[in-house]
Amino acid sequence: MSDPIDRLLDAAEQGKSIIKNRDILHFSYIPNQIQHRKSEQEQVTQSLLPILKQSRPSNLLVYGKPGTGKTLVVKKVISKIQERVEKSNFPIKLVYSNSKEETTLYGLLVSLGRQMGLSDKELPTTGLAISEIFKRLLNRIIEDKTNAIFVIDEIDYLAQLVSKTGKDILYQLTRANERLDSGSLTLVGISNDLTFKEKLDPRVISSLGEEEIVFPNYDVEQIKKIIEERIKEAFIENSVDEPAVNLCAAMAGGEHGDARRAIDLIRVAGEIAERNQADKVTSDHVREASQKIEENKEETSLKSFPLHEKLVLIAIMKANGSSTGEIYASYKALCKSVGRDELTQRRITQMLSEIELSGIISGRLVHQGTHGRTKKYKLTISSDLIKKTFKDDLTLQDII
Ligand SMILES: Nc1ncnc2c1ncn2[C@@H]1O[C@H](COP(=O)(O)OP(=O)(O)OP(=O)(O)O)[C@@H](O)[C@H]1O
Ligand SMILES: [Mg+2]
Repeated sequence: MSDPIDRLLDAAEQGKSIIKNRDILHFSYIPNQIQHRKSEQEQVTQSLLPILKQSRPSNLLVYGKPGTGKTLVVKKVISKIQERVEKSNFPIKLVYSNSKEETTLYGLLVSLGRQMGLSDKELPTTGLAISEIFKRLLNRIIEDKTNAIFVIDEIDYLAQLVSKTGKDILYQLTRANERLDSGSLTLVGISNDLTFKEKLDPRVISSLGEEEIVFPNYDVEQIKKIIEERIKEAFIENSVDEPAVNLCAAMAGGEHGDARRAIDLIRVAGEIAERNQADKVTSDHVREASQKIEENKEETSLKSFPLHEKLVLIAIMKANGSSTGEIYASYKALCKSVGRDELTQRRITQMLSEIELSGIISGRLVHQGTHGRTKKYKLTISSDLIKKTFKDDLTLQDII
């Protein structure tokens, strides 16, 4: 009888691998050729060009739906400028940070500061006031007479990080240049939230949007070319079926042409094919990949719910399609089993509407004759997924 571990390891060693370079399918990979984005690459380069002549480029705002190549294009332009700058002695600094990856405004400013060359001592990771960090950043620019470009990706998150100070810091950043008597600061903001601007202070909009570049959506044909190119580099020859490529492109191109989704689909489909020891990625693998990605998304969102939301979900799972009153009764019993104080019915009713917004449950108003109306809720995801996701939660283990 063969050992189950050895059997899998043997299969992996001798088995067919159809992905020859996984890194190429990672979101951070910068391909040599960026297709369908000639004009956008030119526009971003044009806009930042003055930095090479030691003058200040205008602040720039880059917009477009998710997966339309904004991060890719901006990163490529700054890395090309950086390459040239390194050969010269000009004090030019281009730094990149992503507001979504930083959990605090402090963290974001420190990340920018570190890339500007400020040490741990000059810019400690905790303990300073935001205005103080900001001052130290600007001082560094003044002292070194640097022409700096700060790229802030997913800048809409910055406004949310610390809502009030966040908005204020955005204003200060966009106007920072006015406080510099030597050196300069240009801000490049990237956002996929097209309504982001409406939420901003008009003063910020006018200074941040000195220039604006909008990335249009890709169509299905363009998405197809993008993945074909990626497949050529990442997979061994002839290992992806043409219908599989078409399906990927159709799935990812359907709504607004999301290249990230297309690349994710083909990567996961490739992994599934390898696991099944198939020699080719087929449409079935792509369908399975799509399902898996969807489930992962739901799982991540389930995991992020606070305890009482999780208890409410379990209450619904136990009596799918029940009314708010029934859910509340079941929720109270669950609280008792896990030894937690229950929240009020009013709070739970409100919570149900909030969870409904996330799409994990759906509600339906039901008229009950003379008793008025009630809302009934059911899960839109499988109860297996809930069990699977919550089973590692020590508090919840016993009740599912
Ligand atoms: N024209 C293109 N050619 C090759 N690859 C592309 C192209 N456009 C996008 N991609 C790839 O698609 C993925 C998503 O692109 P990118 O990260 O630039 O999207 P984005 O516009 O910044 O999206 P978001 O707003 O969600 O951050 C990346 O892996 C990127 O390499
Ligand atoms: Mg991006």
